[in-house]
Amino acid sequence: MSWKKILRKKPISHLLKISKSEKGLKKVLGTPALLLMGLGVIIGAGIFILTGIASANYSGPALVISFAIAGTACLFTALCYAEFASMVPVAGSAYTYSYVTLGELLAWIIGWDLILEYLVIVAAIAVGWSGYIVNLLTTLGLNLPAQFINPPGVEGGLINLPAVIIIGFLSLLLIKGTKESSRFNTVIVMIKLAVILIFISIGVNYINPANYHPFLPYGWTGVFKGAAIIFFAYIGFDAITTAAEEVKNPSRTFPIAIIGALIISTILYISVTLILNGMVPYYLFNETAAPVAFALQRVGIEWADIVISVGALAGITSVLLVGYFGQTRVFFAMSRDGLLPPFFSKLHKNFKTPINSIIIVGVVATVIAAFFPITDIAELVNIGTLAAFIIVSASVIVLRRQRPDLERPFKTPLVPLVPILSIIFCLFLVAELPTITHLRFVVWLAIGLVIYYFYGRKKSHLNVEGVPSEIIEDD
Ligand code: ALA
Repeated sequence: MSWKKILRKKPISHLLKISKSEKGLKKVLGTPALLLMGLGVIIGAGIFILTGIASANYSGPALVISFAIAGTACLFTALCYAEFASMVPVAGSAYTYSYVTLGELLAWIIGWDLILEYLVIVAAIAVGWSGYIVNLLTTLGLNLPAQFINPPGVEGGLINLPAVIIIGFLSLLLIKGTKESSRFNTVIVMIKLAVILIFISIGVNYINPANYHPFLPYGWTGVFKGAAIIFFAYIGFDAITTAAEEVKNPSRTFPIAIIGALIISTILYISVTLILNGMVPYYLFNETAAPVAFALQRVGIEWADIVISVGALAGITSVLLVGYFGQTRVFFAMSRDGLLPPFFSKLHKNFKTPINSIIIVGVVATVIAAFFPITDIAELVNIGTLAAFIIVSASVIVLRRQRPDLERPFKTPLVPLVPILSIIFCLFLVAELPTITHLRFVVWLAIGLVIYYFYGRKKSHLNVEGVPSEIIEDD
């Protein structure tokens, strides 16, 4: 295999030309819509489900420090993403950025790796969604038969039907259009933010300082492991960069939307976590998969279950929607570059959305969600995402050296310090994940390399478009 071939890079000018041609997507998103998409995909299962698990088993009341560590890592990374997203406003996010800086092989690896982030999130969270809706319906007196709410092998299950229904609904919405999807997202984000604010304003009155002792029941080791798990709650701010091609004024919009969404969610997370741990002794969270509702019920607020469930459902739905959207845009970009079959980048005649990618992602996520019990999935999503974050941060340093001349509407401050800090924080979080997750990740990458060897390497448009198989500089 020729190294020159696999290290070849996509010229930036080439990408910009494609995005403006009729093969490109419709530009319909403004700053508020993108900010809401960011909040849509960030706030979800992490805060509504994982906080309890992380607090009870890893961090204790010091979960707030775990959140601060993971949030800091993400802030450094977000500053790197903002530089790329404003400079290369083309679908594909980290995949596209590495294609123009580090070359085709790494771009493929990242594209493949992003499947672990977006597609797996959709499948896993659809299962979480199903759990919440079943719980809500049961509270309202409607019991669904066990065959239709569990995967085979789990409590007499046949199929997880609610998960199938929600993915089906979102796929229709995504096919209809980005604008429609973004409107729907706005409504559900408002609902979940309202529910979180309700929780904060009520919960703050029930803090018992005694619950903060001991603050570090599992020591610093627990806090760091907790940070690696809870990192999941921040995942998604990067997903909005997959929409780059559909944004009206990317150079202004991206920095505000990415960094704004991250700061708002960090403030909400830290407030919710402080209150949760002040309301309930950390070890009691082991008894629940719905820590926020649990905390309110424990202090006697009976209606909490229904209200929080509605907020959690809204939260998880928007994560599903934007995660699903992100995966289709990564497939779209990879296919347009020839690394995946052309089928994936075909646009719907009227709606101009990548219909085949939407259907494929929906079908695969549905099959996983409907028929497999999913455990340990958060760790796998985390490692896939952290790998993408590391590559994007490195790419900022590389591109500053290679192409100092390019116009950068938003510049990551203090380069190379900020990207290096981002890399160090992310590597630290990777190291804190369980070894089995590291192994699964390596196996996943190995499968990806085999596919690249037999398909992408040969079909890459950098071959067929007559671009020479050597390291290509931009024109
Ligand atoms: N950050 C997203 C969530 O917490 C993935 O659900």
